[in-house]
Amino acid sequence: MKYGYFDSDKREYVIDKPDTPAPWANYLGSPAYGAIISNNAGGYSFVKSGAAGRLIRYRFNEQDRPGRYVYLRDDEDGDYWSASWQPVGKPLNQYKSICRHGTGYTQIEADYKDIHSQVLYYVPQDADYEVWKVKVTNNGGKARKISCFGFVELTCESFYEQDQVNLQYTQFITRTYFKEKFILQTINENCLNAVNESRVDTRFFGLAGAKVATYCGDRAAFLGKYHDYGNPVSVENGKLDGTLNYNLNPCGALHTNFDLAPNETKEFIFLLGQKREAQANELISRYEDTSLPEKEIDKLKSYWHSRLANLKVSTPDDNFNNMINTWNAYQCFITFVWSRAASLTYCGQRNGYGYRDTVQDIQGIIHLDPEMALEKIKFMISGQVNHGGALPLVKYSHNPGHEDKPEDESYRKNTGHPSYRADDALWLFPTVWKYVAETGNTALLDEIIPYADKGKDTLFNHLKKAIGFSLNNLGIHGLPAGLHADWNDCLRLGEKGVSVFVALQLYYAFEIMIRFAKFKKDSATEKEMTKQKDRFGKIIEERCWKDDRFVRGITEHDVTVGKKEDPEANIWLNPQSWAVISGFADEERSKAILDLVHKELNTKYGARLMSPSYRKHAFDGALALLFNPSTKENGGIFLQTQGWIILAEALLGRGNRAVEYYLESCPAAQNEIADTRLMEPYVYSQFTESVDSPFEGRSHVHWLTGTASTVMVGSVEGILGLRPDIEGLRLSPAIPSSWKSFTIEKSFRGKKLKIKVNNPDGHESGCKKLTVNGTAAEGDYIPASILKAENEIVLDM
Ligand code: GLC
Repeated sequence: MKYGYFDSDKREYVIDKPDTPAPWANYLGSPAYGAIISNNAGGYSFVKSGAAGRLIRYRFNEQDRPGRYVYLRDDEDGDYWSASWQPVGKPLNQYKSICRHGTGYTQIEADYKDIHSQVLYYVPQDADYEVWKVKVTNNGGKARKISCFGFVELTCESFYEQDQVNLQYTQFITRTYFKEKFILQTINENCLNAVNESRVDTRFFGLAGAKVATYCGDRAAFLGKYHDYGNPVSVENGKLDGTLNYNLNPCGALHTNFDLAPNETKEFIFLLGQKREAQANELISRYEDTSLPEKEIDKLKSYWHSRLANLKVSTPDDNFNNMINTWNAYQCFITFVWSRAASLTYCGQRNGYGYRDTVQDIQGIIHLDPEMALEKIKFMISGQVNHGGALPLVKYSHNPGHEDKPEDESYRKNTGHPSYRADDALWLFPTVWKYVAETGNTALLDEIIPYADKGKDTLFNHLKKAIGFSLNNLGIHGLPAGLHADWNDCLRLGEKGVSVFVALQLYYAFEIMIRFAKFKKDSATEKEMTKQKDRFGKIIEERCWKDDRFVRGITEHDVTVGKKEDPEANIWLNPQSWAVISGFADEERSKAILDLVHKELNTKYGARLMSPSYRKHAFDGALALLFNPSTKENGGIFLQTQGWIILAEALLGRGNRAVEYYLESCPAAQNEIADTRLMEPYVYSQFTESVDSPFEGRSHVHWLTGTASTVMVGSVEGILGLRPDIEGLRLSPAIPSSWKSFTIEKSFRGKKLKIKVNNPDGHESGCKKLTVNGTAAEGDYIPASILKAENEIVLDM
């Protein structure tokens, strides 16, 4: 069953069947004022922190309620409905709904008994409040009398957890007032006149462009006894009874009513934010001009679309195009900006940026907005401790040069992170490389950046120290110790146990350092890194390769994990894909291990993280055992890793395979099986349940996941073959042999590239001829120095 489609020109996903198998959400604003909204207007908002700045309630893991509700009522016959299908939920043979999720806005239209409504939800660019612009039109032949109610369930206090559980306190600290155009809520109001004014929060829910007829500030009064969001007694009655909350649960509810002649439209705006009374008044007056939202939406669109426009592909596969041009790209920005802050799965409890997650997230936007990436790169570098290890969590309040670290009790207490991860700092290598290669900004290497705890250094030396950290934390056989965990949160290999994934990451890090050192003409570093790389290569060869595969790790008791003869977890995806990505495996071996992966791990929804799942034979530190088989790290399809297998296949030039993996796990390609996948068909998930599950194909943890960036990199660098380096750009697509041609428009170092790839003979990769502005280039490489402001590039495969 399908519930919607992609509107590529508008960069919108359009849901025309509102009874989706899960709430299909969108992001509005930024964590400064963040809002999540589903296709049925469920969701919540917060100021600065989902956990500590929660404005409106949402009941996680239930029925997508409550939300930003707009109710409509026919005042002649008393029939009422909601402007989003839920919460009233009129029969779908009488009620039509179309939800358009766009870049930073969501618009929900409904048609019911000749009344057309449209609610446009957004947070204006850089604003700290939200706007719901409502338009109601009479499409029928007779005049109508209509009431409209805006409703929001406010939290009693900004701390999400307190609001949910500490009821003996939170229910007695809030009041609401009616102020002609808005409901004002105060929290800990008495402190306003006391020393502790900072304790006080005030929120408002207002109406602009229409007159408030009746109001209510108390949830119980709004809903009524034994009523619910779907049938609030006040909407049934056609008026709000003016109850204001004094203790118990507040709400913002405002009612306006009007006559609608045939074809007549009324427009007005609900506003919500955390503001003092005077500011609320000011904002509402501004929005009395109900045309303001149009301008603000244009601004939002041009903000997002101008970034997304930096790469535009047109291939024979629309699913690929929709993802790369808009949705995967937009999700990359969302994960980049929001990290793992808040979603319908994450309640907002994290108080910082996970190191590895964030450094990987950056990779997803480098090709679209390198400036934005640069800022975050520097920020994350400043989260590196002076000994080269990285803080597992860089706090939102990060103060470089003065931070505590995992060695300190205070850090462990504040963040819940007990120690270092083996991989965190090693993610800097591919990320910094991608940034420098995309921009040519090699000056970054010499930029001085502070360490988290003390001192400062050039970025180049930060990278050296990251390698130093791995070298100072070796385990048995001289391989990098797994420490608290590596990329896989569920692997505890023990103090001296070692991770093969990290060994391969380190091998790759040496390679990147060699490239940088060469560029800097720093032959001492180049020599040292080459020596180490070779030395490690030998150890990897000797210890990490068994029979026909790379193993996953060796525990401190010298037990090898991921051997062919193991009854469970005998083949792991990441060491195979990373053996290729890191350049460790030669071509022949690369092909052999990727063939093995395809045979042993691939399923119709993508390649599993490992197989068979743990049931009875897990080693002591295999926390994956906690999960059901075929779930998450226990042999599920951990989607972040699909990006790496796509990239690995593409690096080998095997376009058919690369795109096979791509399509198996591509959300857009699963649009028609939404009842199996459940999640938004425009969004990557963290994982998909695999073959052992009775719900194979069901996907979980939407939006905020590393999948967005790894698949983007696998697609752009891998499938499309856009592989920049310091001096220029290599063009090395790995595509299905069925793609006879495709085009790419790309901004590169301030210049425009128009690339046409011809593949009449059905190759999967390779370059017969490359011309740049009519002149033949050498091989598949375009030196940056020959590029003009605009370039016509033709690649014949
Ligand atoms: C989750 C974590 C990420 C980790 C991955 C695999 O996605 O956010 O840090 O690498 O799981 O365990």
